[in-house]
Amino acid sequence: MKTYIVGNWKLNFTVGEASIYLHKLLKALPSHREMEVVVAPSTLALQPLSLQVDRHIIKLSAQNGFYRDYGAYTGEVSFSQLRGLVDYAIIGHSERRYVLHETDKDIAKKVAASLRNRITPILCIGEIESERAFGETKDVIRDQLLGGLSEVSDDDLSKVIIAYEPVWAISSAKSSKLASPDEIAEVVALIRETLKDTYGAKALEGVPVLFGGSVNSSNAGGYLTVPGVNGLLIGSASLILSEFIDIIETAKRVRA
Ligand code: PGA
Repeated sequence: MKTYIVGNWKLNFTVGEASIYLHKLLKALPSHREMEVVVAPSTLALQPLSLQVDRHIIKLSAQNGFYRDYGAYTGEVSFSQLRGLVDYAIIGHSERRYVLHETDKDIAKKVAASLRNRITPILCIGEIESERAFGETKDVIRDQLLGGLSEVSDDDLSKVIIAYEPVWAISSAKSSKLASPDEIAEVVALIRETLKDTYGAKALEGVPVLFGGSVNSSNAGGYLTVPGVNGLLIGSASLILSEFIDIIETAKRVRA
């Protein structure tokens, strides 16, 4: 399986800044056959960047999309409009769950819309600090995982990527802490077990599981060696070009 390095730029960079970043990244990137390097710029930048990007080297991801393909939904952008511009879409990020109040039901419809439009969904799941403290992590992970996948058929499961992001480990969280390899390994194993129980062992083989939460160039190597982790979802460190390139180089070394 490939190793995924996904940069989530969130609400950062103008279109011009995003384009300059992409230009520099394309020039600097080491060859990386076994890796899939993805960046998720703001929706506004996706169209121009889709003309600029070399998809053999870097793929684009949306940070969100709407679950209906067209209609009277003021302000939304649909996956059918994103089709052709992006290969991936981040869906159910904790900022969309907790700041923008998206539910598992919304997220399930978005995952289905993404697949319908041939865009690979990166379904984000993760517990908040108090849920972990009260021993609710397993239930939250199972609910968000099966809730988000509730409209995905057995055949389509291998077209989905899961990203485990403990919300308390995300760099913007109030009292952000680093997740330990053991904490991550335990949840990743639970994710795989839950998928196996629901979809059967065969369906599970092709499903990459990524980790995200304060990943940077000094801890990326360690996180990539956690059993069951197939890649990283990176927020703030991906905004610094040299950091992002270092992470990609580290990933290449770890996987070599
Ligand atoms: P972070 O963000 O790397 O800044 O913690 C990760 C994310 O929110 O996807």
